[in-house]
Amino acid sequence: MREVGFIFDLDGVIVDTAKYHYLAWKNLANELGFEFTKQQNELFKGVSRKKSLEILLDLGKVKATQEQFDGWMVEKNVDYLAYIEKMDESEILPDVPKVLQFLKSNTIPISLGSASKNARPILEKVNLLTYFDAIVDGNSVSNAKPNPEVFLIAAKELGVSPENCVVFEDAVAGIQAANAANMLSIGIGDKEVLHEADYVFTDFTQIELEFLKKLAKV
Ligand code: BG6
Ligand code: MG
Repeated sequence: MREVGFIFDLDGVIVDTAKYHYLAWKNLANELGFEFTKQQNELFKGVSRKKSLEILLDLGKVKATQEQFDGWMVEKNVDYLAYIEKMDESEILPDVPKVLQFLKSNTIPISLGSASKNARPILEKVNLLTYFDAIVDGNSVSNAKPNPEVFLIAAKELGVSPENCVVFEDAVAGIQAANAANMLSIGIGDKEVLHEADYVFTDFTQIELEFLKKLAKV
């Protein structure tokens, strides 16, 4: 067993894709005849695509047949992928490469732990795929966050026991999943929203090297 492993959520931690998810859901909502606000989009953070559509249809009081539901899932994703297509390294959130580089140079294993089924193409687009020793995403799990499954699989793939894993997350459901997995949870975002996390930082620029060294046991 390795001594320590690091697990990163993708959307809102490595890249700010929430704005593209928002635009794609908004396009669908408008097509179905209702508005969808940025504030409502907060409810979608860390939530699976299927659950997100269920919430969206509830918000718009729209009833769907299974066929319509499946069609809208595809439609939203095709739209989202068109935004992703234009992404490049400039969309990586501040100091993320610095932290990944620090871990890599200390041979600390790194995994992705994301709900997204689009994680791989996004990491490729922003040129970060090579940092990851394991990719655990929406295609690998059957239970969405706050279920700890995604992080437990990541720990297993890294060969690190869960209690020696550190998780970076921006969503409440993600922090709850990390806590349920018995891992150290680090919130990236608002202290009040992410109050269940062991530590919270507004972004990676706020994380001191000394703190990282302590977490990485180097
Ligand atoms: C999460 C996002 O990371 O992935 C959610 O925070 C999104 O907003 C979910 O719904 C699923 O993503 P995708 O790319 O599979 O639709
Ligand atoms: Mg996230």
